[in-house]
This record gives sequence, C-alpha cells and structure tokens, in this order.
Amino acid sequence: MLWHIQGPGSLGCLWAARFAAAQQPVRLIVRNPDALARYQQVGVVRLSDANLQQTQSYPINAQLPAHSEPISHLLLTCKAYDATAAIAQVAHRLNQDSLVVLLQNGLGSQQAVQALVPDTCCIVASSTEGAYLTEPFHSVFAGQGEIGLGSLDSKPEPEGLINNCHSAQIPCAWTTAIDTTLWRKLAINCAINPLTVILDCNNGALIAHANLINTLCAELQSLLKAAQHPAAAQDLQQHVWQVIEKTAANSSSMRQDVHNKRRTEISYMTGFACAQSIALECPTPALHALHAQLQAALSMRGLPIS
Ligand SMILES: NC(=O)c1ccc[n+]([C@@H]2O[C@H](COP(=O)([O-])OP(=O)(O)OC[C@H]3O[C@@H](n4cnc5c(N)ncnc54)[C@H](OP(=O)(O)O)[C@@H]3O)[C@@H](O)[C@H]2O)c1
Repeated sequence: MLWHIQGPGSLGCLWAARFAAAQQPVRLIVRNPDALARYQQVGVVRLSDANLQQTQSYPINAQLPAHSEPISHLLLTCKAYDATAAIAQVAHRLNQDSLVVLLQNGLGSQQAVQALVPDTCCIVASSTEGAYLTEPFHSVFAGQGEIGLGSLDSKPEPEGLINNCHSAQIPCAWTTAIDTTLWRKLAINCAINPLTVILDCNNGALIAHANLINTLCAELQSLLKAAQHPAAAQDLQQHVWQVIEKTAANSSSMRQDVHNKRRTEISYMTGFACAQSIALECPTPALHALHAQLQAALSMRGLPIS
C-alpha cells in the first residue's frame, strides 16, 4: 500500500515516520515549490518521543501536488480550512479505486472534501493522539491516543486499511459510529475551547464559569438530538466536566493556536454548530453569543474570524 501524505505538519510527519519505520512506501505532498525546497534542504522527516530523548530520521520522498504519480491511498493531514484547496490540487491523481483518509478536526471540511471528489471513497478519522512540530518536518509525539476511522455515509471498511495501519503501529480501529464520535467531540470542543480563548485561561479555570458551561451543554445537547445524533447527546454535560477536570492544567488546542498567532479552526467548530442550529431551526442563543465573542477575541488579536 503506497501512502501519499498531503500536509506534512505535526500529524502528517507522525504518520509518515511510522509508515517509513515499518518499511512501508510513503511520499509527502507539500504545498508548493518553496515548501519542497525547504524539505529538500533537510531531506528527512524527524520524529521524537515526548521527552525529546530519542529522535529518528526517515528519508522520505517529497513531491508537489502537480506530480504525475497516481494516488491510491491519500492521507490528508492539513488543517480543516486548507482541506478543500488541498484536495482540489491532487484530484486529477485520484481515481474511483483511490482511498482518501481525512484527519481534520471539527466537522464540515470532510463533507466539503467528499463533494469535490464524489467518485472517490473518503474515510474520516477522529484522533486523540497529540503531536507538535519543533521545526518544519520534525514532529514530537506528545500524547498517546487512539484513532477512530469510519465512513460518514455508511461505506464498508476498506479492505486492508486497519491491518496496514496496525503494521505501522498506528493505533486505529474501524467504527460504524464515526459520526457520533465526531459530533460528540465537536460539542465538547464547542463547550470548552472558545471560552479558553475568550478568557485566555487553562481548561481548569472554566470551573468558575459553570453556569455558562452548563447552558452551552444543554443547547449543544438539543442540537445533537435535532441533528439525529442522540447517542452523542447522552450525558454530554457530565462528559464536558470530566474533560475539564482531566485536562485542567492544559491549554486548549484553539488557545495554543491563538498564542502561536495561527489561524484557528473556528469555522469547523462553533461556526459549523451555529450554522447547523439555524438550518435545523434549533435555537442556541448562548452558542451564537459565544461564537460572536470568539470572533471578536480573534479579531482583536489580528487573526481571521472564520
Ligand atoms: N496536532 C495534533 O496534536 C492534533 C490532534 C488531533 C487532531 N488534529 C487535527 O489534525 C489536523 C492537522 O493538524 P496538525 O496539527 O498536524 O496541523 P499542522 O501542523 O498545521 O500541519 C498541517 C500541514 O499541512 C500543510 N498544508 C496546508 N495546505 C496544504 C496543501 N495544499 N498541500 C500540502 N500541504 C498543505 C501545512 O503547510 P503550511 O505550514 O505551509 O501551512 C502544514 O504543514 C487539524 O485539523 C487538527 O485540528 C491535530
């Protein structure tokens, strides 16, 4: 199985290094000629453990989206806001037997990507692994986790996919309920991440805003039910508080993006949830107010509001 990994950032390099370590053929697809030149100066993907004690280097070939090599297995690891532009760049290299695995957080980008390549099988992922870059193409595997893979439109498990990932030590499992997983993660992220940006605080400090969190949970629970995801709605408030307690000392990924002056995935989080609440005529006033406050907070810091 030859994997092309488009978007060799934190997760892309983590996956690429694991395929390479397992002697599986893998290629990187970088954004443009500048990125290719930067990669060729280094020529390797590096992967370090969480304590930065051990670093392995993997000489992996990189190429541009316009390359002529056909793509049988594509792992798309860019941010949600880059996903449609990225897939459009390689669409000519896909065919009806190709498989695309989408690793984006939130919801909305996966459906937009599938719409651009309607004849190609897209599989979506929900990953709880953690990785960050110390420099371009050098990923640090910061947190063990697991990856759920599934189809948003009930396609069967592609033959060999999970086995292939397991042979590269990638801890993934096929799930027939990936939509429930993604909606639940979206709701938990909506209840936690925006407030940590607005208040500029660690997750644990949200305990002081319990009333607002509980109101948001109630609205998100109604939204999940209106969107026909009752399993994702079950005990949502309890789950949100469990996450807050377990990750009390952590800075949310959205707050980290803001601190690093990076664009956030707001449109695929509260933006998506607000749009769904309008489309499904399920009022969520506190969520809409939160989304507007988040946009104001981003704008104040000179960051895009979508
Ligand atoms: N990192 C984590 O721990 C983690 C955990 C769970 C979920 N996720 C999710 O996984 C996704 C990827 O996250 P990440 O942290 O790996 O992001 P990242 O480090 O920003 O990596 C994304 C990479 O994609 C590249 N890219 C963008 N457009 C491209 C294109 N058209 N062609 C080729 N490359 C392109 C970016 O290049 P530039 O640098 O030029 O923009 C960047 O190198 C996000 O949706 C994130 O929320 C991440």
